[in-house]
Amino acid sequence: MKFIRLFSLLLIPLMLLACNRSKDNPGYDYMGKHDMYYTKFYKAFSPNPVLRDSMTNQLPVEGTVARCEMPFPYPGATIAERAANQAKSGLEVQNPLVVNGEVLANGKAHYDIFCISCHGKNGKGDGYLFTSGLFPAKPTSLVEPYVQSKPDGEIFYVITYGSISGLMGPHGTQIQPKDRWSIISYVRELAN
Ligand code: HEC
Repeated sequence: MKFIRLFSLLLIPLMLLACNRSKDNPGYDYMGKHDMYYTKFYKAFSPNPVLRDSMTNQLPVEGTVARCEMPFPYPGATIAERAANQAKSGLEVQNPLVVNGEVLANGKAHYDIFCISCHGKNGKGDGYLFTSGLFPAKPTSLVEPYVQSKPDGEIFYVITYGSISGLMGPHGTQIQPKDRWSIISYVRELAN
């Protein structure tokens, strides 16, 4: 009993020893020098001695689907592949958005940033880049039946991967899927 009391009395100053006034200094820690408390970390682009390819930033495992992202696996290197995939996308993929004022406003905002320069304010293919002669290829009118008769999935393909011929470039890395669908809804609205 006496021993326990003596031991507890000794324990109190020992614990107080661990406290200090400095808020930036955690004080003494048990096993601190063995990295138990301070994990080594590597920045995204710093070399990594632990991983086999020495890179900290690792690619996602093949087949990974980002949360809340719909995969859109229709690329294509050759013109024939692209044509087939554009048609396939038209059959298999549907616009997930319910069209309302907010979607149309978002579509217009993105159209005005990414499409208006070539396809023009009213979608007739008379944007400034073409009329000024800076861009040589005639942009297709988006409001005539040729485009309007295409299912949304085909237009989504064109925005994502560019036109089949490659004259219009891909915008998949610049425009989020939701915004691409909004643009399509807005283009339908333009035609009406
Ligand atoms: C740099 C100019 C340029 C920009 C920017 C551009 N387009 Fe195009 N677009 C073109 C040209 C040129 C064509 C004709 C391409 C062809 O016939 O291969 C075209 C064709 C199209 C077609 C028809 C494709 C087909 O199947 O024949 C659609 C739909 C289209 N664009 C939509 C859009 C939308 C939506 C945007 C904005 C996200 C956009 N474009 C941005 C130049 C552009």
